[in-house]
Amino acid sequence: MVNVLFVCLGNICRSPMAEAIMKDLAEKEGLEDKIFVDSAGTGSWHAGEPPHKGTLNILKEYKIKTEGLVARPFSREDFDKFDYIIGMDQSNIQNIYKMTGQPDHPKIIRLLDLTHLKKDVPDPYYTGNFRETYELVSEGCRMLMEKIKKEL
Ligand code: 4NP
Repeated sequence: MVNVLFVCLGNICRSPMAEAIMKDLAEKEGLEDKIFVDSAGTGSWHAGEPPHKGTLNILKEYKIKTEGLVARPFSREDFDKFDYIIGMDQSNIQNIYKMTGQPDHPKIIRLLDLTHLKKDVPDPYYTGNFRETYELVSEGCRMLMEKIKKEL
């Protein structure tokens, strides 16, 4: 089993979007029993809430399941439990480093560093552009899936 955790700030826009897209890719590859996917936020303001409407709407538009997505805070124990801890932007990565005391651990990766883009996923909570975020998160998840498939 490969355990993947996506992390953003609020866990209502970007990381639940990545969780849903990665679960969809795993299902399409027939790997849903081999890859466990979850998401968390470095902030806890939205704990217990469903994703932002904009995230739900774009996922529904692409026929990606949104059931079971509930915000929760990232915790120190997540570092031991997950094989991949994928941050959406550089500030998420810095927060993960601070919360785990594990700077530069290879399992902590910024999502788009897995692509040729090597940049932050913009936060649609502020940009309002959920489509741009969807396209970037999809590309990152495709690359992560390719990497994991090679390891399985
Ligand atoms: P996310 O976006 O990190 O992609 O979930 C945000 C959601 C909520 C807040 C910030 C970012 N907030 O400040 O409440």
